[in-house]
Amino acid sequence: MKRVDDFRLRLGKHELVPIMIGGMGVDISTADLALEAARLGGIGHISDAMINTVADRRYETKYVKEKLALYKYNVKNEDKAVVQFDLGTVAEATRLHIDATMARKQGSGLVFINCMEKLTMNAPKETLRVRMRTALDCGIDGITLAAGLHLGSFALIEDHPRFRDAKLGIIVSSVRALSLFLKKSSRTNRLPDYIVVEGPLAGGHLGFGMDWAKYDLATIVAEVMAHLKSEHLDIPVIPAGGIFTGSDAVAFLESGAAAVQVATRFTVAEECGLPAEVKQEYFKANEDDIVVNEISPTGYPMRMIRSSPAIGDGIRPNCEAYGYLLDANGKCSYVTAYNREVAAHPGARKVKVTDKTCLCTHMRNFDLWTCGQLTWRLKDTTHRLADGSYEILSAEHIFKDYQFSTDNKVALP
Ligand SMILES: Cc1cc2nc3c(=O)[nH]c(=O)nc-3n(C[C@H](O)[C@H](O)[C@H](O)COP(=O)(O)O)c2cc1C
Repeated sequence: MKRVDDFRLRLGKHELVPIMIGGMGVDISTADLALEAARLGGIGHISDAMINTVADRRYETKYVKEKLALYKYNVKNEDKAVVQFDLGTVAEATRLHIDATMARKQGSGLVFINCMEKLTMNAPKETLRVRMRTALDCGIDGITLAAGLHLGSFALIEDHPRFRDAKLGIIVSSVRALSLFLKKSSRTNRLPDYIVVEGPLAGGHLGFGMDWAKYDLATIVAEVMAHLKSEHLDIPVIPAGGIFTGSDAVAFLESGAAAVQVATRFTVAEECGLPAEVKQEYFKANEDDIVVNEISPTGYPMRMIRSSPAIGDGIRPNCEAYGYLLDANGKCSYVTAYNREVAAHPGARKVKVTDKTCLCTHMRNFDLWTCGQLTWRLKDTTHRLADGSYEILSAEHIFKDYQFSTDNKVALP
C-alpha cells in the first residue's frame, strides 16, 4: 500500500513532497502555515488578498486608515468609482508581507503566493501588475493565479527578470478554461509550471455554476491530462478539492497527478489565521451546515458554513477603506444590492441584504466562514476535550498525516 511519501513532485530543480497547501484568502493561509509546509518539504501559499489590510494587521502600517481618510467624503455616496488604490501602497504592503515571510523560510520546500484575479481593485490590470511584479521582486518562489484567471496575466510580467525563473501556476476547473489560458499565453512563450485542477468540493470560490454537484474532480483531472497529452505538453497536474486523507491523495498520484493541493484540513491548524472560536465552528459543522450560494459579489458561487454572520447582513459598503472588489468601472454587486435595499426602505436604520454580501468587510473580520465540502469530517481528525471543544492540531501533524497515512486512516494527535 503506497503512501504520499512514496511520490515526489519535480518542479525544475526542486524535488518536493507532493503536498501543496492552497492559498486561503485574507490571511487564513498565514505565513506561519505556508512556512510549515515549506519546512516539511512541500509547498505552502500565502495570499495577497486584501494585502493592504493584512499589512496593517501584521506590520503596523496604516494603509486602510489613510485610504479611508482620503475618500471619507465619498462614504455616503452610492457611486464608488472615485475610490482608487495607490499603487505605491499596494507594492509596499505586498513587499512587507513577502519579505517578512521569505526571511523566515527554512527547509527544502517552497512558498508561493495565491493571487486572485477577481480582486479587481477598481483598476484590474494595473493593480494585478503591481501585485505580481512586487511578488517576483521580493523573491517569492512562485505565483498561483486563481479566481478569475485573467487570460493576459503572464503578459503583465513577461519583461520581469524572474519571469522564467519563478514558478508560475494556474488554477482551472475545466479543460476549456485551461485551453483558453494556454492559447492566450502562448505568445509569451511561457507555459505554466503547474496546473491546479480544482474540483467542485473545494473551499472558497468555485469555478463552477450552481450545478457544481454534477461535476467530479477525478473526471476533470483525467480530461485535463488527456488534453495535455494530445497537445504534447508535459505540465504537472495538481488536483484539489475534497482530498481529505493520504489515501485520497495517493489515488490521484497513482493515476498520474504530480501532487495534490489541500486546504480544508489545515483550517483547524494552530498556524491557520482563523480566530480560535471560528476554528471550533469548522470542527462543529455538520454536512447540512455547509452550503454553496451566490452571495459573493465576484459572481462565482462560494462554499461556506450556513451560520456565517456574513450571510444576510446589510452593512454599509466599506469601499473607501477596502474596495478590493470594485471592478474596472468602480462597481461591486454588493454596493448595487445595498443601494437597492436602502432605496426600498427609506428611513430604515439598518437594512438587510440577502442576495449579496460585503465580502471585503466580512472576510477581513473572519465572519464569512468559507470552507471545503468535507469540513464536516474535521471533527473526526482530533479529540473532543472535556469542555466540549475540539483540540486544535499542528500544521505539522496534518501535513505528516497526509504524507504517511494509509488505508484511508486519519491519525489523531
Ligand atoms: C477557508 C478557505 C479559503 C480559501 N481561499 C482561497 C483563496 O483565497 N484563493 C484560492 O485560490 N483558493 C482558495 N481556497 C481553495 C483552496 O486553496 C483549495 O484549492 C481547496 O480548498 C482544496 O480543497 P480542500 O479544501 O477540500 O482540501 C480556499 C479554501 C478554504 C477552505
